[in-house]
Amino acid sequence: MEILRIENVSKYYGEKWNEIKVLDDISLTIKKGEFVAIIGTSGSGKTTLLNIIGGIDKPTNGKVIIDGNDIQQLKDSELSAYRRRTVSMIFQFFNLIPILNVKENILLPALLDNKKIDYEKLDNLIEDLGLKEKEKMLPNQLSGGQQQRVAIGRALMCEPEIILADEPTGNLDSKNSEEIINLLKKYNKKNNQTILIVTHDMEIAKGAERIITICDGKIIKDEVQ
Ligand SMILES: Nc1ncnc2c1ncn2[C@@H]1O[C@H](COP(=O)(O)OP(=O)(O)OP(=O)(O)O)[C@@H](O)[C@H]1O
Ligand SMILES: [Mg+2]
Repeated sequence: MEILRIENVSKYYGEKWNEIKVLDDISLTIKKGEFVAIIGTSGSGKTTLLNIIGGIDKPTNGKVIIDGNDIQQLKDSELSAYRRRTVSMIFQFFNLIPILNVKENILLPALLDNKKIDYEKLDNLIEDLGLKEKEKMLPNQLSGGQQQRVAIGRALMCEPEIILADEPTGNLDSKNSEEIINLLKKYNKKNNQTILIVTHDMEIAKGAERIITICDGKIIKDEVQ
């Protein structure tokens, strides 16, 4: 079943003579539950693509259709709800709220969404992330790997259909990277959540079901492993 469709998406910056095409007519379909790696050289447009899918950036042309809905047609309030419920993003630099502890950071999207908090689910998630002993700590009291696990917890708490991860292991050593990827794979299987991960690490890419290669804003390769 198709969960995400990108139709002729382009993103340009600048005017005529100094115009740069960051994304150049990208079309793509992702099935529900797929675990996809996006690779490509620096500046090829990977983050831009992820941000457009995540609704935090807009394409110059083209459509992003999620679950049959064109996200550009959403009103601002619907778009914020979309960003909290349907897609979640995990960033290279974690982007945690420094004054909130582990538990509060994980809960934040659910609180913003006025959701009834399922504390049992929260506790299980924290346990699963190996953060039980750290749940009252602030981000600056955690290692990089632990901070990224908090960010994953935050992304998972609302059980989004799609998780977008932009180099989530870019700042981690190989052991922590492996743990993070295994966690993402576990949730991909357990909840049939769709995961798109941008990575420079070929080992991680090879572990995905599908690898999409971007070069100069175009998809030059799309391989199912
Ligand atoms: N606001 C902007 N104005 C002009 N150019 C921009 C802007 N944002 C991004 N770009 C350009 O778009 C191109 C693609 O950037 P993007 O961040 O998507 O690359 P990337 O593939 O994620 O690279 P990296 O692997 O280094 O993270 C780059 O050349 C960048 O300079
Ligand atoms: Mg990037």
